[in-house]
Amino acid sequence: MNRPLKIFTVVGARPQFIKAAPVVRVLQSRGHRHLLIHTGQHYDANMSQVFFEELDIPLPHRNLEVGSGTHGWQTAHMLMGLERIFLQERPDWVLVYGDTNSTLAAALAAVKLRVPVAHVEAGLRSFNRDMPEEHNRVLTDHCADVLFCPTETAVNNLAAEGIRQGVYWVGDTMFDALLAFSQKARAQSTILRDLALTPGHYLLATVHRPYNTDSPETLQGILEAFCALEEPVVFPVHPRTRARLDAMGVEPEALAACGVRMIEPVGYLDMLLLEEHARMVLTDSGGMQKEAYLLRTPCVTLRPETEWVETVEAGWNRVVGADPPAIIQAVREFRVEGDPPPLFGDGRAAEKIVDVLEEAVG
Ligand code: UD1
Ligand code: UDP
Repeated sequence: MNRPLKIFTVVGARPQFIKAAPVVRVLQSRGHRHLLIHTGQHYDANMSQVFFEELDIPLPHRNLEVGSGTHGWQTAHMLMGLERIFLQERPDWVLVYGDTNSTLAAALAAVKLRVPVAHVEAGLRSFNRDMPEEHNRVLTDHCADVLFCPTETAVNNLAAEGIRQGVYWVGDTMFDALLAFSQKARAQSTILRDLALTPGHYLLATVHRPYNTDSPETLQGILEAFCALEEPVVFPVHPRTRARLDAMGVEPEALAACGVRMIEPVGYLDMLLLEEHARMVLTDSGGMQKEAYLLRTPCVTLRPETEWVETVEAGWNRVVGADPPAIIQAVREFRVEGDPPPLFGDGRAAEKIVDVLEEAVG
């Protein structure tokens, strides 16, 4: 490397703090000038601040404090704020993560100024245009100069769209984060004791995809399925889902009476411990499908499809959608034996990413 790079990381939503943490750590350890910009897409302390504290991420250099809104409004405000900063500061690279509105806004702002963009977690496809993430990831991949893929499937998806230049299969930085923080989680988290949970004898559920939460019938069906299950269900509730449940008049006490424990969103360390010791994870989260796999916990995915097809092929993830009988049957019958084959790289994705950025500029 000839000179330290000026690198901007743009993040805004919960999973992005986790994905970025290992890369930020490597950038800092190699002496690059790194600035973190928070769009403000997520802003509650338990959706943002807790991750900065637990994962030792430096405080944001700038926070655009964009907040919540419709997709166009939110993305436009991020785009305007980011453009101003990129024009002033002219970074060598803008690093974007995943597939949120923050990802798209940063990629668009950068590509239009011809600031090089690197997309971490590139090439994922659900082929489901009902998902806002699918729009964001397709557009971001087509803006990016360098694309870091977590899986071989992602590399192939990009090739099928004609993107072959600047594509690197590096593994998944969420695996790096999990390796870096599992020990700390086991040492520090008291969540199992706090919730009086017995390892292996509870289910862990999260739900936040708009197609599951924004139709009261669908969300009601998912809750009824949770209620019908024999084991206790621990349910950290995303703020989107909380708002919908409140609007539907769902009483936490009524759910508690059938064994479903609604709790506030938890921090990363607590979540790792909850995932590791659950008998099964039930989720529509992308990140949690991967973490369940890496922690050897079977996963039932509450979606019609998944981007993480390797976890299904390996037999550790079952895609069931939101149909209550299908959820109940899957949780009761799905058992996995043996060891999950290694997916998601060797835990050194962040180092490989920084190596590529250094070579590309240096
Ligand atoms: C966003 C991402 C999604 C990602 C998820 C991770 C997009 C289009 N979606 O979805 O890909 O999986 O983050 O969690 O970028 N809210 C709060 N407090 C907060 C944040 C949100 O109350 O700190 C509430 C607001 O009512 C808001 C709603 O949650 O309207 C949805 O937030 P938003 O960021 O728009 O989408 P997510 O569902 O969080
Ligand atoms: N997560 C967390 N606390 C929670 C729910 C999720 O720390 O209450 C973590 C989880 O371990 C994973 C990431 O957040 O690392 C997943 O984020 P989310 O499900 O919000 O988004 P997605 O991965 O679906 O984009």
